[in-house]
Amino acid sequence: MQRQHTRIARAFHWSVLALYVLGVVKQLDDVSQLEDEGLLVTETAFATVFLAVVVARYGYMRRFPTFHAARTPIDPRRARLARSFHQLLYLCFALLPASGLWIGALYAAGSQEGWWMDAAVGLHELCADTSYWLIALHVIAAVASRRKEEGVWTSMVPVWREPPPQET
Ligand code: HEM
Ligand code: HEM
Repeated sequence: MQRQHTRIARAFHWSVLALYVLGVVKQLDDVSQLEDEGLLVTETAFATVFLAVVVARYGYMRRFPTFHAARTPIDPRRARLARSFHQLLYLCFALLPASGLWIGALYAAGSQEGWWMDAAVGLHELCADTSYWLIALHVIAAVASRRKEEGVWTSMVPVWREPPPQET
């Protein structure tokens, strides 16, 4: 039996990805679309759920050391770097819905244009663009670890599992 993250950790990891894909697929093109009150309410509800799941996941995952389910020893410097990187992912995934909520609140308060709205939209777009890069790097690192058969991939990802370790 290969070591795995807990069922809850895996559920959090993959449900955040599913919510993120949903958020990106249904992204808005322009602030003026929020004129539709139904859309404003749905976006706000979605972003609130997204933020709550990300915060709950962070609270839950804090108890586990990075790569805790690896089956080979991992250089502690690499583990520290990965931990900081994961924290950056959390920050980005929290600021994305938070800036969306900020846009929605400004719009609802009647500030459809101006400096504050530009700042909120700028932050939202920055988080969206950063998230693509961070996820690409994250997946590259995960695949690199998979090639080294460290057990980290299999501890989190349900497909393309590593072969079981050789008995010595
Ligand atoms: C297809 C996409 C993905 C793959 C293949 C993948 C793979 C992995 C693997 C193998 C681990 C285990 C690392 C460890 O044991 O510490 C992990 C953990 C992690 N992943 Fe991903 N991941 C993907 C998408 C994402 C996305 C979209 C996020 C965005 C938040 C994310 C955030 C994290 C974080 C923060 C951790 C550290 C453990 C935790 O706090 O949940 N991953 N991922
Ligand atoms: C987790 C929730 C959300 C995700 C994942 C998400 C994702 C995105 C993405 C990927 C973009 C495209 C950014 C770009 O062009 O670089 C975008 C744009 C936008 N989002 Fe969100 N969003 C979320 C929540 C919200 C909320 C709650 C609102 C407002 C109520 C909102 C309003 C907007 C607007 C107005 C734009 C267009 C900005 C512009 O004028 O270019 N978003 N969103």
